[in-house]
Amino acid sequence: MLHKDKVVLVTGGATGIGRAAAIAFAREGGRVAVVDFVVEQGQETVEIIRGAGGDAIFVQTDVQSPAAVEAMVAKTVEHFGALHVAFNNAGIRGGVTNLVDCEEEEWDAVMNTNLKGVWLCMKYEIPEMLKCGGGAIVNTASGMSNFAGPNFAAYATSKHGVQGLTRSAAVDFGPLGIRVNALLPGATDTQQLRATMKDAVPQSSSNMTRIPLRRYSAPEEQAEAAVWLASDKASFVTGASLISDGGASALR
Ligand code: NAI
Repeated sequence: MLHKDKVVLVTGGATGIGRAAAIAFAREGGRVAVVDFVVEQGQETVEIIRGAGGDAIFVQTDVQSPAAVEAMVAKTVEHFGALHVAFNNAGIRGGVTNLVDCEEEEWDAVMNTNLKGVWLCMKYEIPEMLKCGGGAIVNTASGMSNFAGPNFAAYATSKHGVQGLTRSAAVDFGPLGIRVNALLPGATDTQQLRATMKDAVPQSSSNMTRIPLRRYSAPEEQAEAAVWLASDKASFVTGASLISDGGASALR
């Protein structure tokens, strides 16, 4: 068990990659705080974990809110007594627009969730990890942390930011025993991807030929990468960006 008795916090745990990761961390012995602002499906994730004999709680949180994120960490520590691992994964795609057409409200929602949300999570998680003598953080970035996609101005910018934030955290807190890495998933079969495909029909037909493995990722495959990155098996890996995209970024 890679995370036996570790307290693990997973944001965006109601669906998709976050749910798969919460389940995988629990399977590896972690005691998991499942975080999301969607209550019903978040609690469903907890039930799945408990049904398999694991230990989990649901903590409703909007990661855009400083007070909510502070309370999220406090509740997790109050319940489990510590915080060792965090998978800061909650994210939204936003509308499919270029930067001129992007409305300010949309820009702010994407930035506040994907970038400020990850910053706030680490801001409150790291002090608790330091009390445990160290910890490991994985932030969900994207293939769009390294390149842009047509009409994904806000999303790509936010995910470039997540990579910078991850590297900054790794540099500042490595000496104190905290590893921080970014996971860069490629196209993964979740509600976010399905929404994107619906909005981007002209590109969808050619998408498969741009993935050397010729398929989308399952959320569980991204979860395994996060579980490994956050585990002691990756003990010398920090400030890294793990690309898990079926080879898409190797093909240019
Ligand atoms: P998803 O939409 O299935 O899951 C995202 C979860 O985050 C949802 O449960 C949602 O309720 C939650 N969430 C959104 N905003 C929140 C907020 N303000 N506070 C708390 N929870 C919030 O999407 P998916 O695909 O599982 O995405 C997970 C992460 O992976 C995101 O950061 C996304 O940008 C990233 N990603 C996804 C890819 C894909 O192809 N699905 C590709 C690359 C990155």
